[in-house]
Amino acid sequence: MIVKLSTGKEIPIEMHKIRIVQKTRWVPIEERLLAIRDAGYNTFLLKTGDIFLDMLTDSGTNAMSDNQLAAMMVADDSYAGSVSFYKLADAIKEVLGFNYLLPVHQGRAAEHLICKVLMKPEDIILTNYHFTTTKAHIEESGKGACLEIYADEALNTRSTHPFKGNIDLEKLKKAIKDYGKEKISFVRMEATTNLVGGQPFSMENLMAVREVCSEYKIPLIIDGSLISENAYLIRQREKGYEDKSVEEIVREMVSLCDIFYLSGRKNTSVRGGFIATNNDEYYDRIKVWLPFYEGFLTYGGMSTKEIEAMAVGVREMTDPNVAGCSVEQIRYLAEKLTESGVPVVTPPGGLGCHLDAKQFLPHIPQNKYPAGSLAVALYVASGVRSMERGTISTDRDKSGREIFADLELVRMAFPRRVYTLSHIEYLADRLNWLYNHRDLIGGLRFVTEPPVLRFFFGKLEAVGNWDEKLGEVFKKEFGPLG
Ligand code: F0G
Repeated sequence: MIVKLSTGKEIPIEMHKIRIVQKTRWVPIEERLLAIRDAGYNTFLLKTGDIFLDMLTDSGTNAMSDNQLAAMMVADDSYAGSVSFYKLADAIKEVLGFNYLLPVHQGRAAEHLICKVLMKPEDIILTNYHFTTTKAHIEESGKGACLEIYADEALNTRSTHPFKGNIDLEKLKKAIKDYGKEKISFVRMEATTNLVGGQPFSMENLMAVREVCSEYKIPLIIDGSLISENAYLIRQREKGYEDKSVEEIVREMVSLCDIFYLSGRKNTSVRGGFIATNNDEYYDRIKVWLPFYEGFLTYGGMSTKEIEAMAVGVREMTDPNVAGCSVEQIRYLAEKLTESGVPVVTPPGGLGCHLDAKQFLPHIPQNKYPAGSLAVALYVASGVRSMERGTISTDRDKSGREIFADLELVRMAFPRRVYTLSHIEYLADRLNWLYNHRDLIGGLRFVTEPPVLRFFFGKLEAVGNWDEKLGEVFKKEFGPLG
């Protein structure tokens, strides 16, 4: 929630009490320099003992509520027919309106099953933007390709467009005509678009996409891993929705798709995922593969404790103080950074605050990975772990050629209900310092490069050991314990 102070300034207020805590550790600069080198200049390979604030992701890292923790105590650990499963099915029916539920161990497992069942080799998936695991499954499990049909504004990092996650309708119709509707297994809308900077799509756009899909009889799938945030932003930004509740907006969104799936690690604050639909045929076709890859229908690879917590999480995710918790913190940080000239993606969206590394580090060419370099520099200057979302996160093409990402972003993810305003103030301060010393930051090059999803395990080195110089300058200002 946003509260106005007597000075006129607005701040995001945490609408929860923190009653269970996890200690974090202040990691001095010398240790940070050693840790990032040991991690091959890849923030995925840092150990959390070497991290002050972990903003790598909001996936599986949200704070659970007291009611979620309590629900875990009454889990029914049965292989088949678990009461816990039926509680989740009831919650999904009530909140989202779906009759059929297919639980899976996490979001990418849903992508695997959907692509395996719905795609034919060489099919095309049309989407507002890909996510890394989605693209991998479209190519590997579905033996096809994915085509992004975002509006041009999506790639403008200094935009005021409220819905950069929209699909471009003309491009959508053109793609269907060019490829032929029988080659398109489904259209996928990601709410909110992760790799474009957590940008939402509008209800108006979703309705228009629905109409096109109905006209050509192409299934519409929503990846709702951050659907509550998308709905919260629709309420804030779309005319006609200001008086609707987040729950009503979510319900309206999901009523427009044929298949819905999500990573429960995000919106529902547990470790799991699910596919839901009202279509008997899709349900039956996917269901047969569930015990093969995930587990029996009534647990799908999740622990029943997590299923219980998910049933509560599905009901809690549309509470505006849950749906808006990270959105408002992200907005606060993004506005603060914009005021001091640090280039961030605008307008701020869900998931995280995103630095535009191309603008932050114009002297580093894409083949030296500016976003990867900035994530390293941020860790060195603050102990905050962020994630590269640029060319390192984009694998080479089949002939081994580098594919330069559309955007070079550094994502500082905001897990729900985890960090406080003082953490954000600290982060803003260190980012300012870094921006003023950006000339010290250099590029990276691969030392070990895996052939697929290379950003997870790839190891790199700092070209010209620029990290040492940055550390030296930092120590002069903040001391060896800074
Ligand atoms: N779809 C979206 C939009 C996601 O953001 C993610 C995961 C997935 C699918 C896959 O779900 O991790 O449960 O298998 N995003 C995480 C992130 C990993 O850090 O943004 P998963």
